[in-house]
Amino acid sequence: MSTDQWNASLYDNKHSFVSQYGNDLVELLAPNAEERVLDLGCGTGDLTQRIHELNAIVTGVDQSANMIAEAKQKYPMIDFSVEDALHLHYRNEFDAVFSNATLHWIKEPEQVLRGIHQSLKAEGRFVAEFGGYGNVQHITDEIIYQLKRHDVAYREAQFPWYFPSVGEYTPLMEKAGFRVLFAQHFDRPTPLQGEDGLRNWIEMFGKTIFTDVADDVKESIITEVLHHLKGKLYRDGTWIADYKRLRVIGVKE
Ligand code: BEZ
Repeated sequence: MSTDQWNASLYDNKHSFVSQYGNDLVELLAPNAEERVLDLGCGTGDLTQRIHELNAIVTGVDQSANMIAEAKQKYPMIDFSVEDALHLHYRNEFDAVFSNATLHWIKEPEQVLRGIHQSLKAEGRFVAEFGGYGNVQHITDEIIYQLKRHDVAYREAQFPWYFPSVGEYTPLMEKAGFRVLFAQHFDRPTPLQGEDGLRNWIEMFGKTIFTDVADDVKESIITEVLHHLKGKLYRDGTWIADYKRLRVIGVKE
């Protein structure tokens, strides 16, 4: 996201599933003691802390100053700083770059991959998970449909995310200088917390889609979206978001 619109406590309280699911990815990273790891897009630092507990020497970076302030407060023993993934200044410093639920926010994947590659030592690994092709598509299709129904202009450039397929992303990894060891695109239906789970999700993550929309129109759109998606995404009192993940591992050649 270009401006800091992250509310760190809301993120921790209502969307903690983001880091809970990320524990699997830490297992895939399997850091060795004393390895230097960069956690790219660390948010409020929960997974950085998991990596730290495994005795790696981890640095957490995030573009959001709010998130970094919260991370530093929660885990003062860990090195955190505000960094833009598009302008990483590290050179041959890390044994691994780890990134969970971040890279879908950045629409310039080639530039990010170049920065990650430069940050790694020779044979260093890149382990990431983020939204893959078709991620949250029921939700976004419905929001876009309702924007149009409410005569709100919508351009594709407003879509906040980059959700590539394996076929699209792995050639970019190769072009950046990685050998792709692993790539997987899988469904991960994701329960959202509470009766207002989907509303909270849209309010938190879909902000940029509604930037120029008047509050009453936004309210009407969200109400319609919830109404239309109830049959598809609401089960036994819980909203289930239609997440699709892309997981990759690459090694710096
Ligand atoms: C995701 O983790 O896939 C995601 C989170 C927020 C918005 C879009 C996608």
